[in-house]
Amino acid sequence: MAVITTIEDLRVLAQRRVPRMFYEYVDSGSWTESTYRANADDFGGIGFRQRVAVNIEHRSTRTTMLGQPVAMPVALAPTGMTGMQHADGEILAARAAEAFGVPFTLSTVSICSIEDVAAHTKAPFWFQLYVMRDRDFIERLIDRAKAAGCSALMVTMDLQISGQRHKDIKNGLSAPPKLTLPNIANMMTKPRWCMGMLGTRRRTFGNIVGHAKGVDDIGSLAAWSAAQFDPRLSWDDVEWIKKRWGGKLVLKGVLDPEDARAARDTGADAIVVSNHGGRQLDGAISSIRALPDIVAAVGRDTEVWLDGGIRSGQDVIKAMALGAKGTLIGRPFLYGLGAMGEVGVRRALEVIAKEMDVTMALTGRTTVDRLDPSMLIPGSYPTGIGPYLPEPGGR
Ligand code: GLV
Repeated sequence: MAVITTIEDLRVLAQRRVPRMFYEYVDSGSWTESTYRANADDFGGIGFRQRVAVNIEHRSTRTTMLGQPVAMPVALAPTGMTGMQHADGEILAARAAEAFGVPFTLSTVSICSIEDVAAHTKAPFWFQLYVMRDRDFIERLIDRAKAAGCSALMVTMDLQISGQRHKDIKNGLSAPPKLTLPNIANMMTKPRWCMGMLGTRRRTFGNIVGHAKGVDDIGSLAAWSAAQFDPRLSWDDVEWIKKRWGGKLVLKGVLDPEDARAARDTGADAIVVSNHGGRQLDGAISSIRALPDIVAAVGRDTEVWLDGGIRSGQDVIKAMALGAKGTLIGRPFLYGLGAMGEVGVRRALEVIAKEMDVTMALTGRTTVDRLDPSMLIPGSYPTGIGPYLPEPGGR
């Protein structure tokens, strides 16, 4: 097998091994995909200042997210249908995260259920919640996450309506996939994936099917979300969820400083600066561009995290230098999963950790709390930056 040294290597392998419908669900954005591309491109434009003759012998990427020790400031993002990239995908990814020492977030629209992931892991994981019209179902989901020992609830704020993704519509995305002739022909070229799927009973939405009223089978995710996701979601609902949950609360999908202040005032323990990986509002600002103003808006009262566009440990460092206290990765771990299952997720985390470590060394930083804007080339990072900038050692 080829030697894997980058996330791109894993992407190429995943493209070869995962049926087109599920590979393209991951490797795509909404409409023209301009925000999807900008997320990664805007990281690429930021440069580092190289420093020399600094003692870098003892270095560490360790820090905390929500007070929880992490091997590096990177959590696995909640991603839909992870168990369609590889059989039992959520369980495998959660195990890889646990072994590496980073948090795993289970999506509401996962294939493996909350209880199933809890039964196959030891470390508590985080649970992501979509707010749906059926409030009884939401209450039960929150209670199930509590009963499973989940240590944080992450509420997604930016998907009350689905951003149109052309590829998913054209591919007739569904879980399990419909056995049409083109799908069968495509799956026949992915024997590993098929063997895995034949060997598992987990082939549809484990948290929903059989749990939500009238949902026995889900076809297209977009069609289902159109019917179920509650377009009336408000800050009052978030307060209600916070009370019912009673634990650490993360609000994901904030791009605007005004919304960030509202999220903080609602008592979020962390906010995720995110445009849903460029899958929702095409034309929205890239996450890394949005970050500094949001850090400025909420100050140090709430942890600010970022997702969208991270493809390397260098990107993680850039986000941290611009004030993030943590990051989430989606596609990098999904490529690893699709490429090589649990080993591939582990490899994705190793690649990112190594890139972080070497970049810290060559920029003369030995700890995560020393990552600040002065390590970036002036003029290369987003302008319009607000009054708050983290100081070395002062986050
Ligand atoms: C679900 O969160 C998706 O982006 O498809």
